[in-house]
Amino acid sequence: MGQRSIGGYFELESRFESEYHAGLVRLNSGRNCLEYILRANHYRKIYLPVYSCSALLEPILKLNLEFEWYAISSDLEPIQLKPLKEDECLLVINYFGLKGRYIAELSKMAINLIVDNSQAFFELPLPKVDTFYSARKFFGVPDGAYLSTNLFLEEEFEKEVSWNRTEHLLRRFENGAMDGYSRFLKNEEYLCGLPIKYMSNFTTRILAGINYKSVVTRRNQNFQYLNLKLKHKNNLSFSDTEIDGPMTYPLYVEKDSLREELIKQEIFVPTYWPNILENSKADQVEYQLSKYIIPLPVDQRYGLLDMDRICNVINSVL
Ligand SMILES: Cc1ncc(COP(=O)(O)O)c(C=O)c1O
Repeated sequence: MGQRSIGGYFELESRFESEYHAGLVRLNSGRNCLEYILRANHYRKIYLPVYSCSALLEPILKLNLEFEWYAISSDLEPIQLKPLKEDECLLVINYFGLKGRYIAELSKMAINLIVDNSQAFFELPLPKVDTFYSARKFFGVPDGAYLSTNLFLEEEFEKEVSWNRTEHLLRRFENGAMDGYSRFLKNEEYLCGLPIKYMSNFTTRILAGINYKSVVTRRNQNFQYLNLKLKHKNNLSFSDTEIDGPMTYPLYVEKDSLREELIKQEIFVPTYWPNILENSKADQVEYQLSKYIIPLPVDQRYGLLDMDRICNVINSVL
C-alpha cells in the first residue's frame, strides 16, 4: 500500500476511539505473547499450572524449553511454589478474572513472574511484570493480543492479516451461532503454530471502537446478578467485590447433566480445558475444576433477562 486513497467506495464502517490497552505491544495471539516474553528474557525453564490451556504449551515446545507443572488448590491458587533460579519463570493465570488481588500480592514476592490475563482483559498490568491478554475471548474479533513488558525483541515482525477470517463473526451476526461455528473452529485452527506477528489493522480498528465503559458495566451487572441467584449452589468460593468486567461467571456444581442441558437450550458453555480431562486423574483438583466448572456467559451482548433464562435452566436441573 502506498499513499492513502481518497474517495471511491467505502470500507467497513468503524469508529476510532481508543483502545483499552493503548500503549501495550499489539500481537496476534496470547500464546505468541508468551513466546515473546520467553525469548526476550532468555528463560530456560517455565513453571505452569496443570489447570491451563494447551495453547500455552505451543511456544514452550517450539523453543524447546524445560517445563514443570504445578498444582493449584480449589481456590485457584498455586499450592506450593518452588524458589526460582534466575533463568526460570513462573506463569500464573488470572482465572476468570478473580485472582487479580492474589496475583498483585504474589508479584511483591515472586521474581520472573508472567501473568496470563487471557481471562481478565480489564485487569491492568502490574508495573514491571510481564503480562498478556487475548482479545477474542472478550470481543468479536478474529485474533489479537496485548503484551505488557519492559524487554523488547530487536526484531521486526510481519503484520497479521485478518479480513479473510471474519466469516464466523459475520455469520453469527446475521444468521446465529450455529451458522458460523465451523468457521469459528477453522479460525481457532489457523491460530495454532503461527509465528509472532503484530496485530492486524482489522482487529486493531475493531478494538479501538469499543465502548469499554459500557462493556464493563454490563459484564459486572450480569455477573453480580448470577452470583446473587446462584451463589448458594456454587461450590467455588470467591469475592464478587473483586470482579471488574469478568469473562464469565464460573459455576461449580457436581452435576454431569447440567452442561448438556444448557447446551441443548442453546446456552453455549465451554469446558476449560478438555486437555485436562484427558491428561489428569479423576481425583485431582484440576480434573474436577475442568469437569465441574461451568463458565456462564455474562458478556456485553446480554442483559438480565438473558441471565434469568440461564438461571431457569439451571434451576430446572438442580
Ligand atoms: C488461560 C489462557 N491463556 C492463554 C491462551 C492462549 O491465547 P490465544 O488463543 O490468544 O493464543 C488461552 C486460550 O487459548 C487461555 O485460555
